[in-house]
Amino acid sequence: RRTRNEGRVRALEKLRRERGQRREVLGNVSMKIQEGDRSGKLVVDVENISQAFDGRQLFKDFSTVIQRGDRIGIIGPNGCGKSTLLSILLGRAEPQSGTVRLGTNLQVAYFDQLRSQLDEEASVVDNVGQGRDFVEINGSPKHVIGYLQDFLFTPDRARTPVKALSGGERNRLLLAKLFTQPANLLVLDEPTNDLDAETLELLEDLLLGFTGTMLLVSHDRSFLNNVVTSCIVFDEDKQVREYVGGYDDWLAQRQKTVKQEKPAAKLEPASAAKSVKKKSTLTYQQQLDLKALPLEIERLEQQIAALTEKMAAADFYQQDANKIKHVQTQMAELEKSLEAAFDKWAELEALQNA
Ligand SMILES: Nc1ncnc2c1ncn2[C@@H]1O[C@H](COP(=O)(O)OP(=O)(O)OP(=O)(O)O)[C@@H](O)[C@H]1O
Ligand SMILES: [Mg+2]
Repeated sequence: RRTRNEGRVRALEKLRRERGQRREVLGNVSMKIQEGDRSGKLVVDVENISQAFDGRQLFKDFSTVIQRGDRIGIIGPNGCGKSTLLSILLGRAEPQSGTVRLGTNLQVAYFDQLRSQLDEEASVVDNVGQGRDFVEINGSPKHVIGYLQDFLFTPDRARTPVKALSGGERNRLLLAKLFTQPANLLVLDEPTNDLDAETLELLEDLLLGFTGTMLLVSHDRSFLNNVVTSCIVFDEDKQVREYVGGYDDWLAQRQKTVKQEKPAAKLEPASAAKSVKKKSTLTYQQQLDLKALPLEIERLEQQIAALTEKMAAADFYQQDANKIKHVQTQMAELEKSLEAAFDKWAELEALQNA
């Protein structure tokens, strides 16, 4: 089996194995993000959206389609409009022009940059439990103090009022609070700021096991490399573009574009794509599929790896028979989809090279 993303898939798998081992050593974390019901296949469809404030253009005529299971990083310099784009993608703000279509059955969990959701006077425990001693995690009640220990708060620290917390502790608390909500669309606006290494790892683990849709604004290169499968980038030339892969993939693709453009500076970047198109025997839709399939394959492999890990847990077969059956069915479906995606990809590759 070969895929264009093979190197990255291997790297991700290695990383996950290392994590798994380290986690066993720590004897830690039975945590998992609570997943809501599945959303519709379409999550958001925006067409030609533009936004400017006080005569300053943030983006112009940007279009994208986000589908269930996409893990998208949003990258760009300070103040370029990342948070604004998020609000528009979530339907919380209207663009000046263009259309936004939201999918059905979206359950959004939003980690916002302004950290507006914390009660400063209340304790860590009360912010998470909201007056109750138990929170519901994956359908079962869990004591708030125990839950907070998963987020590295000692029982003592958990009783501290929020106003006395450090920036890093605050972020950990927000993550803890966020993950008590069931969600199928996770939106994190710079979650990695001020996170210590341990919490960052915890967050990456949680996100790798999440099968819903994800939008992540971050400047953290390795975090994005580890977690996302495509990026929306506010490029230096003020264009917003989509790239397949993580942060490093963006850099590599951007360098390639720059290199290609240098010898003939006047060439439109699109001309490269056009010449490929001329040679190809594929239809436009087939070309799109060929481009998208490696990502789809990688995504399926990630889900299978996450599920495999789940099934390998010591207590997996001790749970309710229906739950076991459900996971097994899920696994069989994923494997079938993976097989189909490989076949389709191989077929298109052969056609392309014919
Ligand atoms: N409601 C608003 N009215 C006027 N200007 C706004 C509004 N919202 C955002 N802006 C401006 O738009 C620009 C982009 O803001 P935005 O918060 O989207 O950027 P960002 O990329 O998220 O920045 P950061 O990296 O600092 O988080 C900023 O100059 C900001 O001041
Ligand atoms: Mg922002």
